[in-house]
Amino acid sequence: MKQRSDYCGNLRENSIGKEITLYGWVNSYRNHGSLIFVDIRDREGILQLVFDPNNRKSFQIATQLRNEYVISVTGVIQRRPKGTCNNGIGTGTIELLVDHIYILNTSENLPFPIATQKNCSEELRLKYRYLDLRRPQLQHNLITRSKISKIIRDFLHTEQFIEIETPSLTKSTPEGARDFLVPSRIYHGKFFALPQSPQIFKQILMISGFDKYYQIVKCFRDEDLRSDRQIEFTQIDIEMSYINESIIMNLIERMISKIFKLILNIDLEIPFKCMTYEDAILKYGSENPDIRFNMEIKNLSHEFKDSRIFSTIISQGGTVQGLCIPNGAILSKSTLKNIIEFVKMLGAKGLSWVKSSSKGIESNLEKIFSKNELSNILLTCNVKQGDLLVFIADGNKNTVINCLGQLRLKIGNKLGMGNDKKFSFLWVVDFPLITFNTDQNKFESFHHPFTAPKNDLDLFSLKNQRNIGFIKSKSYDIILNGIEIGGGSIRINKNDVQRKIFDLLRISYKDYKNKFGFLLDALSYGAPPHGGIALGFDRLCALILGTKSIREVIAFPKTQNAIDLMVNAPNDVNDEQLLTLGINRIMK
Ligand code: AMO
Repeated sequence: MKQRSDYCGNLRENSIGKEITLYGWVNSYRNHGSLIFVDIRDREGILQLVFDPNNRKSFQIATQLRNEYVISVTGVIQRRPKGTCNNGIGTGTIELLVDHIYILNTSENLPFPIATQKNCSEELRLKYRYLDLRRPQLQHNLITRSKISKIIRDFLHTEQFIEIETPSLTKSTPEGARDFLVPSRIYHGKFFALPQSPQIFKQILMISGFDKYYQIVKCFRDEDLRSDRQIEFTQIDIEMSYINESIIMNLIERMISKIFKLILNIDLEIPFKCMTYEDAILKYGSENPDIRFNMEIKNLSHEFKDSRIFSTIISQGGTVQGLCIPNGAILSKSTLKNIIEFVKMLGAKGLSWVKSSSKGIESNLEKIFSKNELSNILLTCNVKQGDLLVFIADGNKNTVINCLGQLRLKIGNKLGMGNDKKFSFLWVVDFPLITFNTDQNKFESFHHPFTAPKNDLDLFSLKNQRNIGFIKSKSYDIILNGIEIGGGSIRINKNDVQRKIFDLLRISYKDYKNKFGFLLDALSYGAPPHGGIALGFDRLCALILGTKSIREVIAFPKTQNAIDLMVNAPNDVNDEQLLTLGINRIMK
């Protein structure tokens, strides 16, 4: 058998007349009696093979072929006869006339077809992931992912970054999710934690003088899964010394632009748009606004301050806010009913709507307001014919903004405003440093406790709890089409400031000495000013490739229920293994 000379999918007309050897799978076969046609597939694509009955040995072997048999073929590339070309594939004008064929392996009947993208359940796909991964779409996704990581590495090396690995068996890191714990065999009762991110190590590396660090690294967070969340995911992790926010933001913009140019041939406009966290919440009701479409939340309290039913809410400190939906008048009454149920589920007491279409003015407030008054509402709120005005009045401003933020996305998607082909990047900056978690009744960092404050901390006292919420941080998140693809900050590099933050977070001295004592110590030995960012690599790849879930760009993802269906993990371990680790099984 000869060595492979080419990949099937890469061959073109310039190979006509050349002898070629290929290895791959039988994608499909057609026996026409006089000729047999087989499509051979490898990771680069498909090529048509032709078997001529005059070559009796090869023709006889070809009659035995079935889907997913592994074969090797040698032959000469020829032009396909007129009228038999396939414009759908790159190799559609050529074929290989086979001289020799070897069957290297056979295959059982498949649980789902590989050649067609015919849908089958995701469970079945994940159980037979080795077959699923053979499908052209997933091959393309993973090959593109690999190209993106190469572009990132090349870019960062050109920018003089050093790739350094950090431990996977470590101590709890403070990213706010639950840790995965690994019991120690040597020290019974003690545990390693898998890193939620290399946050502390990369800061330590700055203190150690590496200056510009990066790593494409696995992170582990024991949290509920979603389409853009896995318990094990990959970050492009970056840290630099002697920088400010704009230096790192510019670095990321240039890196992302390079990726988009080389992968999608798209020229991105930089700098990306930027808005404060406060504006993002007020205008879009979200810290990750999707700005592919405009539709900002409008405060209509002034417009409604004298109106019959809303004036009381407003005078008692409540608010009326709404969305003007361009071309929204086409939404039917039943859709509007669903929208009302939707916002009620999110905590609003109701929602009002007014629209003016070719049928005239319609509203669910018709019993309360005359047509004239409704028409005035549209006029005051600057709503054009064909548009729809929806608004919510409530005593709680946060409820109103949250409901409208989510409604904005729902309606935007329904009306096709979130065009998948468009890429809208946005920086959100100036997040609060500390928030109050009402569920757990405690203060916590908005990002993590090593984020540098933007304000002078001496102005904030432990006693004035309300004030703490106003401290802003030197932080930045990067959003693409409404999805957070990264986040970072300038860090605290002074021991006393770090201790004050722990105090504000009500973390006791004993606790922080125990958890982060080594970092506090390190900060007192000439820690340079530094900062960094981490991008969600899976999310970035999924958005570039236009997949609905990050599972489509990860070779072996977990299901939504956090199970690896192929290897069947997590699984039971035996008593002996537990005993070695000093763990007793609790009998249920
Ligand atoms: P953060 O927690 O914001 O920051 O994470 C950075 C980015 O990682 C991605 N991401 C995830 N992707 C898939 N599944 C998950 N479970 C998941 N969790 C996060 C997101 C997110 O924006 N150490 C800091 C970074 C820093 O300050 O430098 C950190 O980890 O795209």
